[in-house]
Amino acid sequence: MQNNLFLRSIRLSDELPKGSYLNQVAAIRHLKRMGELNFQKPVTFLIGENGVGKSTLIEGIAVAMGFNPEGGSINFSFSTEDSHSELHRFLTVSKGTKRRKDGYFLRAESYYNVASNIDQMDREPGLGARLIDSYGGKSLHHQSPGESFLSLIEHRFGGNGIYILDEPEAALSPMRMMELICHIHDLVEKDSQFIISTHSPILMAYPDAEVLQISEKGIESVSYEDTEHFRLTRQFLNAPEKMLQYLLKK
Ligand SMILES: Nc1ncnc2c1ncn2[C@@H]1O[C@H](COP(=O)(O)OP(=O)(O)OP(=O)(O)O)[C@@H](O)[C@H]1O
Ligand SMILES: [Mg+2]
Repeated sequence: MQNNLFLRSIRLSDELPKGSYLNQVAAIRHLKRMGELNFQKPVTFLIGENGVGKSTLIEGIAVAMGFNPEGGSINFSFSTEDSHSELHRFLTVSKGTKRRKDGYFLRAESYYNVASNIDQMDREPGLGARLIDSYGGKSLHHQSPGESFLSLIEHRFGGNGIYILDEPEAALSPMRMMELICHIHDLVEKDSQFIISTHSPILMAYPDAEVLQISEKGIESVSYEDTEHFRLTRQFLNAPEKMLQYLLKK
């Protein structure tokens, strides 16, 4: 039976232009070969080495789902510069039948723009509540990146939505990362779906998730304990001296 997630699958619908760098990006090459990539769980983690194409893929998905390439909720329509790829034009997303009530696309590197945009919208006269009130009432610029990210999730993510997050752990302490897991869980209980790229061995432990590992070999579903992130981190923390001795030997 097909699941009823907001995003069920993606596929490359058309040939990418021959000269496009996207043809060289591992995640995109595999997607082309596989035909279709299915999403099975409320939370999907995209993991893999730097440069395999997690951000490229996640941005393509977000834009194909109707988000602004620079990040934000579906309502945001601001633009600084066109730095996003053309991937979304070649992606077909298959959506479930449920109507989405909420959604957010968080790009690690453009988070500052989202904060500026909220501040600017609140300075302009308009109807309705100040947007910033749904972010905890304090300008995101006056909170640390980690604090503002968590208040965004806590106050702005309402459930019944799709949340696409690119390395959300970047600003978070280990304690806050665990807090993030709790927020994700609450939102999953409220019928939400998450697509998250991450390097965090803490975050990817979330139990009701599928971990998709992108490598030169392909895109494969792996168990949490089989991820390199889990194994390497455990090895390191079990015996930091031994690992450092090995790493720093002349
Ligand atoms: N505009 C561009 N022109 C050419 N190559 C690009 C462009 N943008 C990205 N790339 C290349 O595409 C590849 C995938 O980049 P991407 O940022 O998606 O990787 P990633 O898996 O998110 O890595 P990280 O873990 O470091 O965030 C990289 O090799 C990158 O150099
Ligand atoms: Mg990335």
